[in-house]
Formats: sequence, C-alpha cells, structure tokens
Amino acid sequence: MVLVTGGAGYIGSHTCVELLNAGYDICVLDNLSNSCEEALNRVKKITGKDFKFYKVDLLDYEGIDKVFSENKIEFVIHFAGLKAVGESVAKPLMYFENNVGGTINLLKVMTKYNVKKIVFSSSATVYGDKSPAPYVETLPCAAINPYGRTKLMIEKILQDIYASDNDWDIALLRYFNPVGAHSSGLIGEDPNGIPNNLMPYISQVAVGRLECLNIFGNDYDTKDGTGVRDYIHVVDLAIGHLKALDKIKNKVGVVIYNLGTGQGYSVLDMVNTYSKVLGRPINYKFVDRRPGDLAEYYADPSKAERELGFKATRTLEDMCRDTIRWQEGNKNGYRG
Ligand code: NAD
Ligand code: WQD
Repeated sequence: MVLVTGGAGYIGSHTCVELLNAGYDICVLDNLSNSCEEALNRVKKITGKDFKFYKVDLLDYEGIDKVFSENKIEFVIHFAGLKAVGESVAKPLMYFENNVGGTINLLKVMTKYNVKKIVFSSSATVYGDKSPAPYVETLPCAAINPYGRTKLMIEKILQDIYASDNDWDIALLRYFNPVGAHSSGLIGEDPNGIPNNLMPYISQVAVGRLECLNIFGNDYDTKDGTGVRDYIHVVDLAIGHLKALDKIKNKVGVVIYNLGTGQGYSVLDMVNTYSKVLGRPINYKFVDRRPGDLAEYYADPSKAERELGFKATRTLEDMCRDTIRWQEGNKNGYRG
C-alpha cells in the first residue's frame, strides 16, 4: 500500500488517480489546510475505487502513528506541505514548522514501522537564482526564500538519513510549473483566495471571477519580455511519480530527478494559447515585476527520461483545454 500525504491537494489528487488506475492500494493523509475532502470523492468517482482517508496533521505524531498501525504501508509519496512563496517570507516559522517539522515526524514514524521508501515533492526553486537554464540535477543548490529553504532542508535531511542507514530508498522530485487538470474535468487546481500562480489566475479571469490578469513585467531579457517557465501538465507529473515509485522498489539509495518538459513558455505564450483554446480574449495588463521572480528557467528533463523512462507528452494546448474544462465545470472550485 502507498500512503499519499497531501493527497487531497492539487498534485496529490491527480497522483491518487494514477496510482489507483495502475492497481495500487492507497491511503491518504491530509489536514485539509489547503484542500477539501470533495477532491477525494472526485478521485473515487473517476477511478471507481475506494480508499481510506485520515484527516491528520503531520505535526501530530500520534495521528501519523495511527495511520501506520492500521495499514500495511510499503511506500510513502510525500506531497503534504505549504507552498506559497510570499506567505513563507511573511511567516517563515510557520513554513519551517509545518514543512520541515511535519516531515521529521513522518520520517520518525516511517523509521518506527520500518517503511524506508519515500518519494518527496521537491521543487525547481532549489536551484536558486544563480544557475543558468536549463537546470540539470548536478547544479549547486541555493534556495532564495523560506519556502525554497524548507525544500532544500528536507532534501538534505533525506540524504542524511540515507547516509546513516542505507536501507532507505529515496526519490527527490524537482517539479517545474505544474498546470492543467484531469481530462474528466472533475479534479483540478483550487487555490484559496486570490491565486498566486499564473494558470489559476488566467482561468479565474476567463470565468469572470477575476477582472484582469496582471502580467508581472514585460522588460525581461526573454523573447517577448515576459517571464519564461517550464509548464508541465499535472497528469504527466503524476505519472512521473509512478515511475519514481517503480525506481525506488529497487535498491537505489537517493535519486534526484527534474520533472519538467524542457520547453520554456512565456507569460504571453500562456495567455495567447489559453485565449485561442477558449475562443475569446483574456483581459490583461502589464504591471511591475514581482520581487523575487527570475526571468527564465526550464528543466533539462533528460535524466528522468534516461533513468525513469519518463517523458511528458501533454502539450500546452492540452494544459489549457483541461484547465478550461475543470474551471468551466467548477467555477468556484470544489466549494460549488
Ligand atoms: P496543495 O496545497 O494543493 O497540496 C498540499 C496538500 O498538503 C494540501 O492538501 C494540504 O492540505 C496538505 N498539507 C499541508 N500541510 C499539511 C500538514 N501539516 N499535514 C497534513 N497535510 C498538510 O499543493 P500542490 O500544488 O499539490 O503541491 C504538492 C507538493 O508539491 C507540495 O509539497 C509543494 O510544495 C510541492 N510543489 C508544488 C509545486 C506547484 O507549483 N504546485 C511546485 C513544486 C513543488
Ligand atoms: C509564472 C510566471 C510570473 C502570476 C512558483 C514558485 C515555485 C514553484 C512553482 C513550488 C512568472 C508570471 C504570475 C500572475 C504573472 N512552486 N505571473 N501574473 O513563480 O514560476 O513558481 O510556483 O515549488 O517555487 O515560485 O510560478 O505561476 O507564480 O509564475 O505575470 O498573476 O507568471 O511573473 O513569470 P513561479 P507562477
């Protein structure tokens, strides 16, 4: 059985679907701080399969222990964590406590139950702001905000655990920019409040929840002056987790993979493609750069392709079409 922490969240829910479709038994642990149980009902609807859900916080050691005592867990996919960069700057202790402290509790319980195989959600943010794109896994890391530092610390903690006990097998997955939704339109990204990220912002402008997209800067040294990122379809990303799981079934130690497409798209590429697929324009205006943003980065995805057999196949049009289907069918997300 696979324990999915943060399984009610955006990437977690899509990964649950792929795990269930591939025949895995799963159980989900989530405190629902940034998600709702309805996402898991939708996962059950899409797959026609049932599984246990524990509303447990990773800061609650006894709660995690109960999940392990009641289930025969062999693998953990660890998504649970807070992820808003700006909020992490304002509330660093909350981020270190939740992300690092929560992970330490999880790892202590895993050790107790002799479960030593884990896939961890890291981020391209660990490459910092000095590395040239494309980012390759061997580059030095240096996070530039508290959120990124939690990811880097957890990577280090996992590497230290392996150094102390070679029985562990650990995959650190560095995601680029996940977007899109399941093709059923039943699950997708449902941020609380005003979205921080580009794609949910565009999609909420498209359905009239927000008036106008602010494009943060049009004077970057990029092809059209707007920021360039490596957007990866969330279903491709989810499939990457199954490949990583296959990998750590063998004795591999600690492995690190970028999960991206290798293709950079600008903010204007995103807006224009979204408008084209939607069939009407997206209202936008240019505003100042957002502090902390980089001009351009994207993955070198070749290691994951070589060693995991993972290659993202969904196009930018697919990402837009699936986001539109999700957002049009769920204008206010899971809350109806
Ligand atoms: P999400 O917020 O949708 O999902 C995270 C889930 O973890 C939520 O359901 C939340 O309720 C849960 N959670 C948070 N703290 C918890 C705690 N203490 N105990 C139990 N549950 C807790 O985010 P997501 O986009 O699905 O991201 C999943 C993971 O991937 C996160 O670790 C995130 O940092 C990482 N990541 C995300 C992105 C991205 O752009 N979405 C990029 C790189 C890495
Ligand atoms: C993408 C582009 C913005 C919103 C963040 C985290 C990163 C990772 C993924 C977790 C940039 C521009 C955005 C808007 C805009 N998360 N933009 N108007 O910043 O690349 O990455 O999410 O690990 O750590 O930093 O993603 O979607 O916020 O921005 O113009 O309203 O869109 O400037 O060029 P980002 P994003």
